[in-house]
Amino acid sequence: MKFIKCDHLKQKPDFSDLPFGKYMTDYMLEMDWTRENGWGEITIKPYENFSLSPAAMILHYGQGIFEGAKAFKNDKGEISMFRIESNLDRMNKSAWRMGMPTFDLNAVKEGIAKLVAIEKDWIPVGDGKALYLRPTMIATEPKIGVTSCGSFKFYVVCCPVSSYFKAGAGLVKIMIEDTFVRACAGGTGEAKCVGNYGASFLAMEIAKKKGYNQVLWLDVNHQYVEEVGTMNVMFVIDGEVVTPALSGSILRGITRDSSIMLLRELGYKVREEKIDIHELMKKVAEGRVTEMFGVGTAAIVSPVGTLGYEGKDYIIGENKPGPVGQALYHAMMDIQQGRTPDKFGWVTHVKQD
Ligand code: COI
Repeated sequence: MKFIKCDHLKQKPDFSDLPFGKYMTDYMLEMDWTRENGWGEITIKPYENFSLSPAAMILHYGQGIFEGAKAFKNDKGEISMFRIESNLDRMNKSAWRMGMPTFDLNAVKEGIAKLVAIEKDWIPVGDGKALYLRPTMIATEPKIGVTSCGSFKFYVVCCPVSSYFKAGAGLVKIMIEDTFVRACAGGTGEAKCVGNYGASFLAMEIAKKKGYNQVLWLDVNHQYVEEVGTMNVMFVIDGEVVTPALSGSILRGITRDSSIMLLRELGYKVREEKIDIHELMKKVAEGRVTEMFGVGTAAIVSPVGTLGYEGKDYIIGENKPGPVGQALYHAMMDIQQGRTPDKFGWVTHVKQD
């Protein structure tokens, strides 16, 4: 592993006001792949722009994937990463789906741990705060022909974050999207690839103009609930937690998986199943859906207070955070902040020099 030191460090932002993903740290990690030589050495270097040909294949054909992971510093100053192996394993699966090279998970994990240790002063302390890690891989070969790419860049940038949705702005408002479709079985919905996100902006902008934060995607027939794009979703229906079953077209969320395990541990019944939108909205109207929340690395556990469908707003759980979502949030925080034993083996402790 190579390390190139910065000449000067940036001034850190105010950690009590961290718009999501705005401030990048001093360093980044980089590793390049060529068809001839495979992956090169991992390098930790000053955060900087890199030079890319205007013909680089990522810019034309969207062969790009990414991950969202987090590192934490607790009030004792101990640093850890949460389920980083699961993120890197999912990234290798996304790479496979997108015809990109897979990498040595352990070597990359070690590199990221080193990067986190170097950036330790950038990790904000407190529940909901973290250093967000963005591993990314892009096709770099300058070529307009649609044939397999001969060079890729893997890199990781980091930014200090707090909650994804602005604190104090009220509960999340979600519009059920019944015009556009995010993904279909056999497509790339399960891969964390850039195109899935690029395709979501139009629907999101339309929803924003109507006063919503995000959209809830339905399947290709607009019948079954899928995900919110920035998070998976869970409902409390008649006292039980229900979440859409993995269908091949929704993201295999790591926070989704952790939430299912933690909720069961907390004594809640959790069902993964197909959720028909008409049946769901009937239950919402009958007052049987007492909570809805999104779960994701960035979103953590975000309660949803309003669900818009076919021009009408439905209030969930009196537009207040509910007990199930709150219990889940606290259980997650306790593990991420090292306050409860890591019985699932999710935490990687980061050595500080
Ligand atoms: C994450 O939760 O880490 C995500 O990648 C979602 C989003 C910020 C794109």
